[in-house]
Amino acid sequence: MSSKTLIIMGSARSDGNTRKIVEVIINKTKADFIDLNVYKISYFDYEHGNKDDDFVEIATKMVNYEQIVFATPVYWYAMSAQLKTFFDRLSDLLTIRKSLGRQLGGKKMYSIACSSDEVAYEGFSMPFKNTAEYLGVEYGGHLHSWYDSENDLIPESVLWEIKLFCEGLS
Ligand SMILES: Cc1cc2nc3c(=O)[nH]c(=O)nc-3n(C[C@H](O)[C@H](O)[C@H](O)COP(=O)(O)O)c2cc1C
Repeated sequence: MSSKTLIIMGSARSDGNTRKIVEVIINKTKADFIDLNVYKISYFDYEHGNKDDDFVEIATKMVNYEQIVFATPVYWYAMSAQLKTFFDRLSDLLTIRKSLGRQLGGKKMYSIACSSDEVAYEGFSMPFKNTAEYLGVEYGGHLHSWYDSENDLIPESVLWEIKLFCEGLS
């Protein structure tokens, strides 16, 4: 493991706007990166018929890092379906993968949203904060970002927020 920070991104496209924000953060922090599109992670299953899909591979990686940053585009005022599917599977850490779940203790979790709206929606970060608390992980905070598709650039104000966010990563 080369970095103490792992960024997990769930977007409908691997090279989209969220990735552009994430790349700025990787350049600043040398964080490691997981694109959920590369993995096969199925919906939560009460019967755990999917226990051998790629969720456990990512969960096993997660416990090797001090800080886990979840990055998502804003789709219909909420996190992407890709990331939500992963979040639902975090339930496995409380049932069939308890030993992995216990290893999350003492870690820190952050969230990043990439929107087309400059303004953050009320309550957007709540599922991240509450999930961290439920899992016994400290929640480090949320970065709201947006991409200016018209001019195909990350706005200066967002670059500034990214700088502050990266400084806040311990
Ligand atoms: C299905 C869908 C729903 C979206 N819903 C919102 C929204 O509710 N609010 C918003 O500001 N942008 C919304 N957007 C725009 C995206 O958040 C924005 O373009 C983002 O930068 C896309 O990141 P991506 O390239 O990683 O998908 C939506 C885009 C899509 C495709």
